[in-house]
Amino acid sequence: MAEMDAVKLMKQAVGRSAAAEVQSDSIIGLGTGSTTAFAIQFLGDRLASGDLKNIKGVPTSFQASVLAKKYGIPLVTLDEIDHIDIAIDGADEVDPKFNLIKGGGAAHTREKIVDSLAEKFIVVVDSSKLVDPLGSTFPLPVEVLPMAVSPVTRALETLGATVELRMGVNKDGPVITDQGNMVLDAKFDAITDPAGLEKNLNNIPGVLENGLFVGVASDVLVGEVKDGEASVRSL
Ligand code: A5P
Repeated sequence: MAEMDAVKLMKQAVGRSAAAEVQSDSIIGLGTGSTTAFAIQFLGDRLASGDLKNIKGVPTSFQASVLAKKYGIPLVTLDEIDHIDIAIDGADEVDPKFNLIKGGGAAHTREKIVDSLAEKFIVVVDSSKLVDPLGSTFPLPVEVLPMAVSPVTRALETLGATVELRMGVNKDGPVITDQGNMVLDAKFDAITDPAGLEKNLNNIPGVLENGLFVGVASDVLVGEVKDGEASVRSL
């Protein structure tokens, strides 16, 4: 089996498992990324079949809004609700304490707001995302106001990171977030104190939010493939 097919199978399996945990009459945080996209699709399937009734979604990005509309999931804003029952979202890295790096799709600011409000936050990943410590494989995304890109870059370098301004694919120039900001990808050798680093980074003037999610996730579902068969395990 081609490697890409295996990754897709893992993402589908874990997306389906997370969608299966949602109950009728729920308000659901709809995450961003290719894994959550499968969960949104399966939620739509359950809604269409009548297996699920009266759900509402809170999108974490334009991507999530577009997918929810495509699959018939009614959307609400945070102004219209007073709680979120469950959120489903992907991650770029997960450590053994369920701390995360997110923001590979530049959506971590809205994701952190929505995922943090959820009574239950299920992380959906394939097995390649499990690391120890955080920072082992993935740079840490930091959303920055455009006028502050230079000073924030210097501040991150002082903290020991190698920093790159994220550039668009099929778009010339930098990635612009759903809020109109830019993203600095900060590669640290290892993040040994995620809680401390999360706070320090958000104290730099010009930083809107960083992709460290500490103590937010309640469950992690991991998709795996063996001998062409996809399976899901709960950490
Ligand atoms: C979006 O900004 C991210 O936080 C995604 O949730 C994360 O990058 C995981 O995406 P995939 O499921 O596509 O790997």
